[in-house]
Amino acid sequence: MKTSEIRSNFLQFFESKGHKILPSSSLIPNNDPTLLFTNSGMVQFKDIFIGKEKAEHKKITTVQRCFRAGGKHNDLENVGYTARHHTFFEMLGNFSFGDYFKREAIHYAWELLTKVYKLPENKLFITVYQDDDEAYDIWNKEIGVPCDLISRIGDNKGARFSSDNFWQMADVGPCGPCSEIYYDHGPSFKGDPPGVGSLDGDRYIEIWNLVFMQFYMDQEGNMSRLSTPCIDTGMGLERIAAVIQHVHSNYETDTFKNLILAIANKIGINNINDNSLKVIADHVRACSFLIIDGVLPSNEGRGYVLRRIIRRALRHSYKLGHSGPFLYKIVPDLILEMGSAYPDLIKQSELITKIILQEEDRFGETLAKGMKILNASISKIDSGNKLDGITTFNLYDTYGFPIDLTADVCREKGISVDLESFDREMESQRVKARLSGKFKLHSQSLNYNGLNSIFVGYDHFQTDNSKILAIYIDGVSVNSINQYDKEVYIIIDKTPFYAESGGQVGDTGFIKNKNSVFSVENTFMGGINLSVHCGILRTGMLSVGDNVSSYLDVERRLNISRNHSATHLLHFALRETLGSHVMQRGSLVDHNKIRFDFTSDFPISLELIANIENLVNSCVIKNIDVSTTLLEYDKAIKSGAMALFDEKYSDMVRVVSIGQSLELCGGTHVKKTGDIGFFKIISESSVSSGVRRLEACTALRSVDFSNKQTVVLSKINDLFNSTTDDVLSKIVQKNSMIKDIEKENDSLRKKLSISLVDYLSSKDHLVIKDRKIISYVFKDLDQNILLTIIDLLKVKFKSVIVLLATNLPNGNINLVCGVSDDLVNSIKANEIMKFLTSNVKGKGGGRSNLATGSTSEFDLIFSGFESTKRWVAERI
Ligand code: ALA
Repeated sequence: MKTSEIRSNFLQFFESKGHKILPSSSLIPNNDPTLLFTNSGMVQFKDIFIGKEKAEHKKITTVQRCFRAGGKHNDLENVGYTARHHTFFEMLGNFSFGDYFKREAIHYAWELLTKVYKLPENKLFITVYQDDDEAYDIWNKEIGVPCDLISRIGDNKGARFSSDNFWQMADVGPCGPCSEIYYDHGPSFKGDPPGVGSLDGDRYIEIWNLVFMQFYMDQEGNMSRLSTPCIDTGMGLERIAAVIQHVHSNYETDTFKNLILAIANKIGINNINDNSLKVIADHVRACSFLIIDGVLPSNEGRGYVLRRIIRRALRHSYKLGHSGPFLYKIVPDLILEMGSAYPDLIKQSELITKIILQEEDRFGETLAKGMKILNASISKIDSGNKLDGITTFNLYDTYGFPIDLTADVCREKGISVDLESFDREMESQRVKARLSGKFKLHSQSLNYNGLNSIFVGYDHFQTDNSKILAIYIDGVSVNSINQYDKEVYIIIDKTPFYAESGGQVGDTGFIKNKNSVFSVENTFMGGINLSVHCGILRTGMLSVGDNVSSYLDVERRLNISRNHSATHLLHFALRETLGSHVMQRGSLVDHNKIRFDFTSDFPISLELIANIENLVNSCVIKNIDVSTTLLEYDKAIKSGAMALFDEKYSDMVRVVSIGQSLELCGGTHVKKTGDIGFFKIISESSVSSGVRRLEACTALRSVDFSNKQTVVLSKINDLFNSTTDDVLSKIVQKNSMIKDIEKENDSLRKKLSISLVDYLSSKDHLVIKDRKIISYVFKDLDQNILLTIIDLLKVKFKSVIVLLATNLPNGNINLVCGVSDDLVNSIKANEIMKFLTSNVKGKGGGRSNLATGSTSEFDLIFSGFESTKRWVAERI
């Protein structure tokens, strides 16, 4: 059975058991800022598990793309060296939200494995959590698995619930006991079954984990029961493929085998069993999927993981004796293997290739720089000693220098690497990376279980008679609030305030009653259908249960809506103008402006910008109705509505249509495009490689922007005594005139310097041992001319010391001293300048052959020069 069939058979099996097939969510979890990557199938359903969100379907099945590098589940260092660790992998899963529980989950798993995948029953080994008698009995009594093929696993990792059979998504989140199904690869492999004996090895391989999700672990490690017990299962597609295809390693399955052959071929090596090939095969999948989900290489968070992975792959190619970029060339082979299951790979293949290649090129550059630093450090260390961990880490982190390359180079000089201190540095970087995954924690920490708030703000800017459902101070729920200096969150049952989401900022305004005023500074989502109003109490006191009225800042909201509708038109116009391959990479819509990031390989020219503006403004002028409809997701997509790659959508989606623009969007919009008034693009820039940013505004802000441009232009016209039509050619003309004048100036300066050198040469000067000491005080000469004179005198007299001065318009005197190169060992220009300035109450300094200084004491110059010349004469 091919991997692709295993994938589709799984979904069909659970569909036949009443499960709804849902698509994989992005590798970037959109509902959990504490998680760096989607690390299992349940992540997209986390809010359902913890009761924050209602399940639209009680039984679901998915094939989820997952990533385990960084964070709680991190397999990066094992990749390539064990038969079944990956950074990127696919997880097959079935989920029940308050529908079936242990019994059905176990029966389904057994049926699929033994009937559909046709695995021999006696090859399967089961584990359950130590005190889970219920699961044990289902396996033993109902399924008929004999006792010697079932193990109970306790808290084998130390602390309470720290067990292979107790699954946690992360340190905080839903969790529960689990039952794992292992496959016995037979006696030709070493290893005892889990929980039996102690022989390590990989004879028994875990293939499926059935989690009985029952608890929630909070930040302090306290466990509470979930309101409804749920089922979350996960089976690694690559592992089950290995079992079904009768191979021992995931890297021998069809997908990987083909990829590894392609890599060996491109690198030009014959030994296809080399671990480095496995690492590269894993990593090309990992980085391609990260890139299609919007991650770009950088030095922190997700981007840092992507960077490390690309570099690690490149390092392994060096290990195989290959140099230069190559990983990008594997992308077409990956598409051959996985493109049909993941069409985004095909759609974004150019972007993937480009980003990988760029990162490979960049690493090539840093390799040389890192080598320099490493050699410099090594040269200071005696053989037998260690290179410190900080340098090693800096090489690794800043220059992308793999530690084993550092160690190799050191070894040649008899030096080792201080791994302990390297690990310490590395650990602190890991902590930083983990923390950078925690964006805003506010909504996570509320732990709200009350009623939802109904958003009425599409049609209303104010509500009367709303009820306060909850109040929080510093994340802690309180009954009332009477302090005026605290950041407070308030939840009300009916709200006109739009909560920040989909790129649109949250609303601001007031929540009031007769005696009290609460100013809302921001509104964010605390979960589906839960707006949290964040702000400060201004007067009075508010309590849970109070009736209140709420008022939006209407002007601000209207501007936000103008900008949001204009963003849709901009998106449409961009695709019309640049092509439908243009992909949105993020947007921000507030009351001032629109920020829109999208994929493009080149900057957008002024002409194209004008075309885009025209297209948007012509939609504005037509005063088109903006309409919204609720549709089933599939229908909406079929109708051509655009969805965002990293958004999670429910079954029913809101489609906003503005003329030909159709987008899934929950944001607020104008009623008719004429309300946008006037659309203007105000800047175009680069965000990162392959991603551009346009900033734009609407209505009066666009008018303001254009007015300011007009004022600047008319001032320029005045300066150039010109009109808008010909000011450009005037500026070009003036620029070329300035260039001519500068040229002429240069040549005059040179002529003047030459004649001044002739003049100075014709005078008598002090000569000591054939060395001339020339000094002269000029009037009103440019300092540059003094410098040119010194250069010319050095050429003319070979062995010469020159002291020159000239007055400046502000009354100060400039001093310059030059010493020809043959004399700098006996006397230096900066020493002479020091002596001179100490005699003329001035300041100065410079190099051995040229020094400059200044003073305001003109009267001291002549005597100063004389004494300096005597001082010099004594020294040469
Ligand atoms: N969420 C469970 C796992 O990842 C199924 O193992």
